[in-house]
Amino acid sequence: MNHQGKVYVITGAGGGMGSEVASKLLTEGAKVVGIDISLDGMSHISDDNFRKEEANLLDEARVKELFKQVYEEFGKIDGLVNIAGIAQSSMPISDVSLDFWNKVIGINATAVFLTSKEAVSYMKKGGGGSIINVGSVSVARPRPGLQSYIASKGAVEAFSRALAIEGAPDNIRVNVLHPGPAETKMLPQFSSEKQQAGGLSRKDFTQSVPLGNLIQPTDIAEAVHYLLSDGAKMVTGTTLHVDGGRSL
Ligand SMILES: NC(=O)c1ccc[n+]([C@@H]2O[C@H](COP(=O)([O-])OP(=O)(O)OC[C@H]3O[C@@H](n4cnc5c(N)ncnc54)[C@H](O)[C@@H]3O)[C@@H](O)[C@H]2O)c1
Repeated sequence: MNHQGKVYVITGAGGGMGSEVASKLLTEGAKVVGIDISLDGMSHISDDNFRKEEANLLDEARVKELFKQVYEEFGKIDGLVNIAGIAQSSMPISDVSLDFWNKVIGINATAVFLTSKEAVSYMKKGGGGSIINVGSVSVARPRPGLQSYIASKGAVEAFSRALAIEGAPDNIRVNVLHPGPAETKMLPQFSSEKQQAGGLSRKDFTQSVPLGNLIQPTDIAEAVHYLLSDGAKMVTGTTLHVDGGRSL
């Protein structure tokens, strides 16, 4: 088992990708702490090495407390996988309020800063670690009407590269994973309420992937498994596309 005894924190663990990633890492022998604003999507995971925590990732005090608890209980934090996020339904910029922009940037980008800040301080004490931040293929291949979402994910990519160079002397690796259109409850949320603004059906999304299928949460779990593993010990500051060729 590739992750025996490792301690990983996963945000968005109640979502389509997050719950699959948690399950995969548990199968590989890891101890996993799953964080989500709702525990509902984690109820099917029953494993003695799994702990679920309800938290809003924008609550800085709660995030600090959670990482402290994990460190005190397990004595280390080997990895952080930031998967939590929210979508934007396709809309022209004229319809985007400042509140909406701030909400998307907050959950998709600022929360990644808050969790990474805590993880880095504990990883330094433990001699290193690995952080994976989930972005989106839309950073490389934008669609119309998703300007706020794409900006938030672009921030995640730039932040991750910056943290990779900062963390390298402490053996902390930071990488980005860009999924393509994936079969989770989030996918239909990208479609437009107003069809003329560029909303897409499931069939449109599938056809936009050169390999001809939607990305499955298991595809994301395999990539996370690799990036966290010692097999990727010289991989940092990179962006791995799991998008079926959508970025081409
Ligand atoms: N599904 C896609 O097509 C797709 C494509 C590219 C990128 N992504 C990205 O992949 C990641 C996972 O998406 P998914 O498809 O599994 O979606 P999902 O909606 O199934 O999961 C997202 C999870 O994040 C949690 N979350 C949202 N706000 C939170 C907050 N403030 N605090 C704590 N938890 C919060 C939600 O409760 C949910 O469980 C997201 O970052 C998303 O932007 C998804």
